[in-house]
Amino acid sequence: MKGKPLVSIVSAGLSKFGKIEGLYARELFAEAAKEAYERCPNLNPKKDIQALFVGHMGESYEHQGHTGATAADWAGLLHIPAIRTEGACASSGAALRAGIYAVLSGLCDVVMVGGVEKMTHRTTPEVTEFLAMASDYPFEQWHGITFPGLFALMATAHMHKYGTTEKQMAMVAVKNHYHGSLNPKAHMQKEVTLETALSSRVIAWPLKLYDCSLITDGASCLILTKPELAKKYTDTPVHIVGSGQASDTIGMYEREEFTSLKAAKLAAKKAYEMANVKPEDIDVAEVHDCFTIAEIIAYEDLGFCKPGEGGHLAEKGETKLGGRIPINTSGGLKAKGHPVGATGTAQAYEIYLQLTEQAEKRQVKDAEIGLTHNVGGSGATAAVHIYRRE
Ligand SMILES: CC(C)(COP(=O)(O)OP(=O)(O)OC[C@H]1O[C@@H](n2cnc3c(N)ncnc32)[C@H](O)[C@@H]1OP(=O)(O)O)[C@@H](O)C(=O)NCCC(=O)NCCS
Repeated sequence: MKGKPLVSIVSAGLSKFGKIEGLYARELFAEAAKEAYERCPNLNPKKDIQALFVGHMGESYEHQGHTGATAADWAGLLHIPAIRTEGACASSGAALRAGIYAVLSGLCDVVMVGGVEKMTHRTTPEVTEFLAMASDYPFEQWHGITFPGLFALMATAHMHKYGTTEKQMAMVAVKNHYHGSLNPKAHMQKEVTLETALSSRVIAWPLKLYDCSLITDGASCLILTKPELAKKYTDTPVHIVGSGQASDTIGMYEREEFTSLKAAKLAAKKAYEMANVKPEDIDVAEVHDCFTIAEIIAYEDLGFCKPGEGGHLAEKGETKLGGRIPINTSGGLKAKGHPVGATGTAQAYEIYLQLTEQAEKRQVKDAEIGLTHNVGGSGATAAVHIYRRE
């Protein structure tokens, strides 16, 4: 049987993504929680939700740690166990995984998982430094390398090994900005031309402005329950049928190769095996396009094409809405935005919308099986989840 449910998603919420002035992270999380509650009138949050797992990458942005309790307080969930998970940009992919552990262990019937980050009130150099803390201190940060720099190294390695081009990377940006233009919650809702993307200023060659994800504020959450309880809350649950998480060396310099992320491949292998599905069964996916090269590598690591063919997949339009396998219909981290702690469960939110036919202008017709791929840092953490509609 394809995909025995591990847990079921019965509701989901997402704050508006963007440069949100005047709100704290906790208020963004409350906004996401409110949407999840409103979507699920049969749920009594205070009575039913038994634990909260919330991804949050950095306390430096707001000088605020202790995110589990803070988020629970502002989501109206006082007094339950509330735990922060941290795995850099995969912090809420890890929260989702932790929520699955909690339900599968039998300790909890219903949990909330989510994530949050408030970034845009800090300057770009500050944000760059806070983000870089998720790389290796002695051999990467200390020498001044940042995430655009690390992913630029992967891009040049990919170009050298496979002939991947700057144009192919730019086409990922053009696609994701097109998808973002269809998403009212996306940070950037404007289309860009290939010429604009290709001629944008260099950030870390070969990566240009339009190859980089956005610095964004936002929050996301999901309500999970046991599959046998799902119908109590909704007629249209989405089942999580595969879950994989893996890690790799913190320093990129110790990796076996620079053109692939081993943690992502290992996480995907586990998730596919658990779900009993193959890459060709996936109808829609949200992948971690923190830089356009990362999306190309994701296509290859997830088995959507052979190693080295990711650039061609983007160039041929196969991953655009209407293509063979639409990827990042939300706009991805490139256009929807990348509030790092919120990204993993925001990806799951998009898949939840797709599999319950609520994705409006960006709906993938007859989507039955979805996948999310959430990467932390330069790939030292990765979480892959597979979802099936009822
Ligand atoms: C690419 C980056 C350095 C640009 O920052 P910046 O040079 O300070 O740019 P600014 O914030 O001053 O914005 C200048 C303009 O570029 C736009 N812009 C900023 N980042 C953009 C991006 N990534 N893509 C497209 N446009 C972008 C802004 O909207 C603004 O447009 P406007 O002039 O029309 O208002 C920054 O977005 C960044 O660091 N992104 C990567 C974040 C990251 O590493 N995340 C973790 C990944 S592991």
